[in-house]
Amino acid sequence: MLNLIKTRRSIRQYTDKPILRETILRLLESANWAPSAHNSQPWRFVILTDMTDKSNLANAMGQRLRADRLAEGDDPTEIERHVARRYAQFTQPPVLIVLCLSLELNPVNLSILVENRKSKIEWVMGVQSVAMAAQNLMIQAHADGLATCFYCAPLFAPDEVKAVLELPADWQPQGLIALGEGAQTVTKTRHSLETKVKFL
Ligand SMILES: Cc1cc2nc3c(=O)[nH]c(=O)nc-3n(C[C@H](O)[C@H](O)[C@H](O)COP(=O)(O)O)c2cc1C
Repeated sequence: MLNLIKTRRSIRQYTDKPILRETILRLLESANWAPSAHNSQPWRFVILTDMTDKSNLANAMGQRLRADRLAEGDDPTEIERHVARRYAQFTQPPVLIVLCLSLELNPVNLSILVENRKSKIEWVMGVQSVAMAAQNLMIQAHADGLATCFYCAPLFAPDEVKAVLELPADWQPQGLIALGEGAQTVTKTRHSLETKVKFL
Protein backbone atom coordinates (compact mmCIF):
# COMPACT_ATOMS: atom_id res chain seq x y z
CA MET A 1 0.00 0.00 0.00
CA LEU A 2 2.78 2.45 0.89
CA ASN A 3 4.39 1.86 -2.49
CA LEU A 4 1.05 2.51 -4.21
CA ILE A 5 0.64 5.78 -2.33
CA LYS A 6 4.21 6.87 -3.01
CA THR A 7 4.05 6.16 -6.75
CA ARG A 8 0.81 8.09 -7.42
CA ARG A 9 1.59 11.36 -9.19
CA SER A 10 -0.48 14.25 -10.43
CA ILE A 11 -0.51 13.73 -14.18
CA ARG A 12 -1.52 16.58 -16.48
CA GLN A 13 -1.25 14.94 -19.91
CA TYR A 14 -3.40 12.06 -21.09
CA THR A 15 -3.85 9.84 -24.11
CA ASP A 16 -7.15 9.98 -26.01
CA LYS A 17 -8.12 6.50 -24.82
CA PRO A 18 -11.71 6.66 -23.54
CA ILE A 19 -12.39 5.41 -20.04
CA LEU A 20 -15.20 2.88 -19.70
CA ARG A 21 -18.23 3.79 -17.61
CA GLU A 22 -17.67 0.63 -15.49
CA THR A 23 -14.16 1.85 -14.72
CA ILE A 24 -15.44 5.26 -13.65
CA LEU A 25 -18.14 3.63 -11.51
CA ARG A 26 -15.51 1.48 -9.78
CA LEU A 27 -13.55 4.63 -8.89
CA LEU A 28 -16.69 6.35 -7.63
CA GLU A 29 -17.43 3.26 -5.53
CA SER A 30 -14.05 3.62 -3.86
CA ALA A 31 -14.77 7.31 -3.24
CA ASN A 32 -18.16 6.45 -1.75
CA TRP A 33 -16.47 4.29 0.89
CA ALA A 34 -14.41 7.14 2.30
CA PRO A 35 -14.92 8.09 5.92
CA SER A 36 -17.13 11.12 6.52
CA ALA A 37 -18.28 13.24 9.43
CA HIS A 38 -21.41 11.66 10.98
CA ASN A 39 -21.22 9.20 8.05
CA SER A 40 -23.01 11.99 6.17
CA GLN A 41 -21.34 11.01 2.85
CA PRO A 42 -21.56 14.61 1.61
CA TRP A 43 -19.69 13.99 -1.67
CA ARG A 44 -21.45 14.50 -4.98
CA PHE A 45 -19.93 13.86 -8.42
CA VAL A 46 -20.56 15.18 -11.91
CA ILE A 47 -18.93 13.12 -14.67
CA LEU A 48 -18.02 14.79 -17.96
CA THR A 49 -16.73 12.75 -20.90
CA ASP A 50 -18.24 14.61 -23.85
CA MET A 51 -16.04 17.29 -25.44
CA THR A 52 -18.90 19.78 -25.60
CA ASP A 53 -19.55 19.42 -21.87
CA LYS A 54 -15.86 19.71 -20.99
CA SER A 55 -15.52 22.71 -23.29
CA ASN A 56 -18.55 24.45 -21.78
CA LEU A 57 -17.19 23.94 -18.28
CA ALA A 58 -13.69 25.09 -19.26
CA ASN A 59 -15.11 28.18 -20.97
CA ALA A 60 -17.32 29.05 -17.98
CA MET A 61 -14.37 28.84 -15.59
CA GLY A 62 -12.17 30.67 -18.10
CA GLN A 63 -14.59 33.58 -18.36
CA ARG A 64 -14.51 34.01 -14.60
CA LEU A 65 -10.70 33.72 -14.54
CA ARG A 66 -10.46 36.40 -17.24
CA ALA A 67 -12.88 38.74 -15.44
CA ASP A 68 -11.14 38.29 -12.07
CA ARG A 69 -7.67 38.91 -13.49
CA LEU A 70 -8.81 41.91 -15.54
CA ALA A 71 -10.33 43.34 -12.35
CA GLU A 72 -6.92 42.85 -10.69
CA GLY A 73 -5.34 44.91 -13.49
CA ASP A 74 -3.23 42.06 -14.86
CA ASP A 75 -1.70 42.11 -18.34
CA PRO A 76 -4.41 41.07 -20.87
CA THR A 77 -1.96 39.08 -23.02
CA GLU A 78 -0.79 37.09 -20.02
CA ILE A 79 -4.41 36.57 -18.96
CA GLU A 80 -5.32 35.13 -22.38
CA ARG A 81 -2.34 32.76 -22.20
CA HIS A 82 -3.50 31.65 -18.76
CA VAL A 83 -7.11 31.15 -19.94
CA ALA A 84 -5.91 29.14 -22.97
CA ARG A 85 -3.66 26.99 -20.77
CA ARG A 86 -6.57 26.27 -18.46
CA TYR A 87 -8.89 25.48 -21.38
CA ALA A 88 -6.42 22.88 -22.66
CA GLN A 89 -6.01 21.44 -19.16
CA PHE A 90 -9.73 20.87 -18.79
CA THR A 91 -10.57 19.66 -22.28
CA GLN A 92 -7.65 17.31 -22.94
CA PRO A 93 -8.37 14.65 -20.26
CA PRO A 94 -10.89 11.98 -21.36
CA VAL A 95 -12.83 12.39 -18.10
CA LEU A 96 -13.49 15.22 -15.67
CA ILE A 97 -15.02 14.45 -12.30
CA VAL A 98 -16.37 17.57 -10.62
CA LEU A 99 -16.48 17.14 -6.86
CA CYS A 100 -19.19 18.83 -4.88
CA LEU A 101 -20.18 19.09 -1.26
CA SER A 102 -23.80 18.74 -0.23
CA LEU A 103 -24.84 19.43 3.32
CA GLU A 104 -28.38 18.36 2.50
CA LEU A 105 -28.37 15.50 5.02
CA ASN A 106 -26.62 17.62 7.59
CA PRO A 107 -27.87 21.12 6.79
CA VAL A 108 -25.80 24.14 7.61
CA ASN A 109 -27.10 27.66 7.23
CA LEU A 110 -24.19 29.18 5.30
CA SER A 111 -25.43 32.72 5.88
CA ILE A 112 -24.65 32.39 9.58
CA LEU A 113 -21.24 30.80 9.18
CA VAL A 114 -19.40 33.74 10.63
CA GLU A 115 -21.60 33.99 13.71
CA ASN A 116 -22.15 30.33 14.22
CA ARG A 117 -18.95 28.48 15.03
CA LYS A 118 -20.65 25.09 15.07
CA SER A 119 -22.01 25.54 11.54
CA LYS A 120 -18.58 26.56 10.33
CA ILE A 121 -17.06 23.46 11.83
CA GLU A 122 -19.75 21.28 10.25
CA TRP A 123 -18.92 22.84 6.88
CA VAL A 124 -15.21 22.20 7.34
CA MET A 125 -15.95 18.59 8.22
CA GLY A 126 -17.95 18.31 5.01
CA VAL A 127 -15.04 19.70 3.00
CA GLN A 128 -12.66 17.30 4.74
CA SER A 129 -14.96 14.39 3.93
CA VAL A 130 -15.11 15.29 0.23
CA ALA A 131 -11.31 15.50 0.18
CA MET A 132 -11.10 12.00 1.63
CA ALA A 133 -13.40 10.70 -1.08
CA ALA A 134 -11.19 12.40 -3.68
CA GLN A 135 -8.07 10.74 -2.30
CA ASN A 136 -9.75 7.30 -2.32
CA LEU A 137 -10.67 7.82 -5.95
CA MET A 138 -7.19 8.94 -6.98
CA ILE A 139 -5.47 6.06 -5.21
CA GLN A 140 -7.90 3.55 -6.72
CA ALA A 141 -7.30 5.05 -10.17
CA HIS A 142 -3.56 4.69 -9.70
CA ALA A 143 -4.01 1.09 -8.55
CA ASP A 144 -6.02 0.48 -11.74
CA GLY A 145 -3.23 1.93 -13.91
CA LEU A 146 -4.96 5.27 -14.55
CA ALA A 147 -3.74 8.82 -14.00
CA THR A 148 -5.41 11.71 -12.21
CA CYS A 149 -4.84 15.30 -11.20
CA PHE A 150 -6.86 17.28 -8.66
CA TYR A 151 -7.66 20.86 -9.66
CA CYS A 152 -9.15 23.51 -7.40
CA ALA A 153 -10.40 25.71 -10.31
CA PRO A 154 -14.14 25.20 -9.56
CA LEU A 155 -13.60 26.83 -6.16
CA PHE A 156 -12.76 30.07 -7.96
CA ALA A 157 -15.89 30.02 -10.12
CA PRO A 158 -18.61 28.33 -8.05
CA ASP A 159 -21.55 30.22 -9.57
CA GLU A 160 -20.36 29.63 -13.13
CA VAL A 161 -19.80 25.91 -12.45
CA LYS A 162 -23.20 25.55 -10.81
CA ALA A 163 -24.88 27.26 -13.75
CA VAL A 164 -23.14 25.43 -16.58
CA LEU A 165 -23.55 22.00 -14.94
CA GLU A 166 -27.09 22.81 -13.79
CA LEU A 167 -26.25 21.58 -10.31
CA PRO A 168 -28.88 21.12 -7.61
CA ALA A 169 -28.96 24.17 -5.32
CA ASP A 170 -27.25 22.38 -2.42
CA TRP A 171 -24.25 21.09 -4.44
CA GLN A 172 -21.21 23.28 -3.73
CA PRO A 173 -18.35 22.82 -6.23
CA GLN A 174 -15.12 21.88 -4.44
CA GLY A 175 -12.72 20.87 -7.18
CA LEU A 176 -12.31 18.56 -10.10
CA ILE A 177 -10.32 15.47 -10.87
CA ALA A 178 -8.97 14.93 -14.38
CA LEU A 179 -8.83 11.23 -15.22
CA GLY A 180 -7.38 9.22 -18.05
CA GLU A 181 -4.53 7.09 -19.27
CA GLY A 182 -1.39 9.02 -18.36
CA ALA A 183 0.91 10.33 -21.11
CA GLN A 184 3.76 11.73 -19.05
CA THR A 185 6.15 10.68 -16.31
CA VAL A 186 6.49 12.95 -13.33
CA THR A 187 8.80 12.72 -10.35
CA LYS A 188 8.15 14.50 -7.08
CA THR A 189 9.77 14.60 -3.70
CA ARG A 190 8.48 15.39 -0.24
CA HIS A 191 10.04 17.43 2.54
CA SER A 192 11.29 15.27 5.35
CA LEU A 193 8.75 14.20 7.95
CA GLU A 194 11.03 15.60 10.61
CA THR A 195 9.67 19.12 10.18
CA LYS A 196 6.04 17.96 10.20
CA VAL A 197 5.75 15.67 13.20
CA LYS A 198 5.78 16.15 16.91
CA PHE A 199 5.95 12.93 18.88
CA LEU A 200 5.06 13.24 22.54
C1 LIG B 1 -6.38 20.79 -2.92
C2 LIG B 1 -5.49 20.61 -4.13
C3 LIG B 1 -5.54 21.54 -5.15
C4 LIG B 1 -4.76 21.38 -6.29
N1 LIG B 1 -4.89 22.26 -7.33
C5 LIG B 1 -4.15 22.10 -8.43
C6 LIG B 1 -4.31 23.00 -9.52
O1 LIG B 1 -5.16 23.89 -9.50
N2 LIG B 1 -3.54 22.82 -10.61
C7 LIG B 1 -2.61 21.81 -10.68
O2 LIG B 1 -1.94 21.69 -11.70
N3 LIG B 1 -2.44 20.93 -9.66
C8 LIG B 1 -3.19 21.05 -8.54
N4 LIG B 1 -3.06 20.16 -7.51
C9 LIG B 1 -2.06 19.06 -7.59
C10 LIG B 1 -0.80 19.42 -6.79
O3 LIG B 1 -0.05 20.39 -7.50
C11 LIG B 1 0.02 18.16 -6.56
O4 LIG B 1 -0.70 17.25 -5.80
C12 LIG B 1 1.34 18.47 -5.85
O5 LIG B 1 2.20 19.26 -6.63
C13 LIG B 1 2.11 17.19 -5.47
O6 LIG B 1 2.37 16.42 -6.63
P1 LIG B 1 1.91 14.89 -6.71
O7 LIG B 1 0.41 14.87 -6.58
O8 LIG B 1 2.38 14.38 -8.04
O9 LIG B 1 2.56 14.15 -5.58
C14 LIG B 1 -3.85 20.28 -6.38
C15 LIG B 1 -3.80 19.35 -5.33
C16 LIG B 1 -4.62 19.50 -4.24
C17 LIG B 1 -4.57 18.45 -3.15
